[in-house]
Amino acid sequence: MSDHALETSETPPLAGSKEAMRARPRRERRRRQEGFFGAIPDKAYQEPVFVGRSIFGRWAVVSDPAAVRRVLVEQWANYPKTKMDIEFFNAIFGGGLLGLDGEDWRLHRRIMAPAFDPRTVASYGPAMASTIQSFLARWDALPDEAPIDMSEEMTALTLEVISRTVFSADSGEMGSLVRDVLLRGAETSAAANLLDLAPVIGPWRMRRRKRELAEASRPLDAAIEKLLAERESRGHEGPKDLIDRLMAARDAETGGRLTAKEIRDEIVTIYVAGHETTASTLSWTWYVLSQRPEPLARLQAELVAELGGRAPEPGDLARLPYVRRVVEEAMRLYPAAPGLSSRRAVADDELAGVRIPKGTSVNVLPWIIHRHEQLWEDPETFDPDRFAPERSADRPRFAYLPFGGGPRVCIGQVLAMNESILALAALGQRYSARLAPGADVAPKANITLQFQHGLPMILERRAIAWADGKSVAAEAVA
Ligand code: HEM
Repeated sequence: MSDHALETSETPPLAGSKEAMRARPRRERRRRQEGFFGAIPDKAYQEPVFVGRSIFGRWAVVSDPAAVRRVLVEQWANYPKTKMDIEFFNAIFGGGLLGLDGEDWRLHRRIMAPAFDPRTVASYGPAMASTIQSFLARWDALPDEAPIDMSEEMTALTLEVISRTVFSADSGEMGSLVRDVLLRGAETSAAANLLDLAPVIGPWRMRRRKRELAEASRPLDAAIEKLLAERESRGHEGPKDLIDRLMAARDAETGGRLTAKEIRDEIVTIYVAGHETTASTLSWTWYVLSQRPEPLARLQAELVAELGGRAPEPGDLARLPYVRRVVEEAMRLYPAAPGLSSRRAVADDELAGVRIPKGTSVNVLPWIIHRHEQLWEDPETFDPDRFAPERSADRPRFAYLPFGGGPRVCIGQVLAMNESILALAALGQRYSARLAPGADVAPKANITLQFQHGLPMILERRAIAWADGKSVAAEAVA
């Protein structure tokens, strides 16, 4: 039973920080700086609006909080998501919220919003908590000091949670059908390249892809249709799950409801948008905690004081303020969505005094805003107390936006926060994790923030006094 992380006082530079970049030999640094992070010049972390030009035209990276508010909220109609972005999601995952715009998007969002409001999300809590406990039992069955890939573990956990939240008792079969579709979608998006932007051949490739994906998702479509028909005639026992809510949802203005095909598209979208992001958040949280003994010790102290070994329940969320701060600060340094979808200016505008001609691609990048030197003191340091009420009161709303903002803000943000806090509380109470020897942690920006080489870690069982005295870990400790 090792408490390695608590004993050491070393504080290595965090992956992706400027110190970590500088500490590497030049060739290694170049390799790491390839892609999204390498292409960001230092000035982007210093200027309110940073502009440039590429073969696709003029672009701007907007970091000034008032200017971000203008793009996402005040003038959001002037900054719609680009057609390409919407079509990309539409082709791969169908007409769910991510693949819709205009009136269609507005209608779906209105119908779906009640299924994600805080009170309704609270009703998914017990299923979420029990799924996390079942997952924990799997860790309990591993040998001491088990080597794991934390990012794979967190992906498995968040997939189970989303399956149970959406389908409850039907999650086994339905979950695996959705996963098949996701896998095909991921293969298809990985195969995307510049040819997709070419005239004639681009739309042709897109149509072919749509056809192949429609073919691949037939078993899922049939199963969803059957499930909806069964629930329509027999109902569903137990607490309402997300699919019940989507079936029952009516638009308050028109009385309109979602069709079976629309429900299917929304479910696939919820899986896509909801599991990899939460898995990324949890994985990066484990990583930063493994590098920072003091916040880890405070987190564990809060868990012992508030839970004392019992399983956390949704009602405990308000009693775990430090766990929440840890997740919030991990999402600042490692936002699961490092960049929001690009927007394009419909008409000329001005942002923080910078002229934005019509057609400019406007980018709001949480990765940059969250590490911006004008917005954060000591931005590269992991300091959960930044999110203590007294230190956050004066912070501009758009200096921190892991879930985006404005009308297209993440619909699942309350669900994601509840899930992350409950998971970290349940798992962190029984386990800590240290990096495996030789682990090479480096961020990789896909649509979500991933790891270039996975996150190999060693699980450490914690020795604490258990309230029930019965848990597997307690017996192991005794
Ligand atoms: C920590 C976890 C999560 C993060 C960091 C996150 C982040 C985001 C961000 C930044 C956006 C806005 C994208 C943009 O404006 O370009 C978004 C949209 C969205 N998210 Fe999340 N998300 C998370 C979890 C979830 C969960 C759990 C669900 C569902 C269960 C979900 C469903 C969605 C949907 C459907 C949209 C599209 C909303 C629309 O366009 O109306 N997300 N998310």
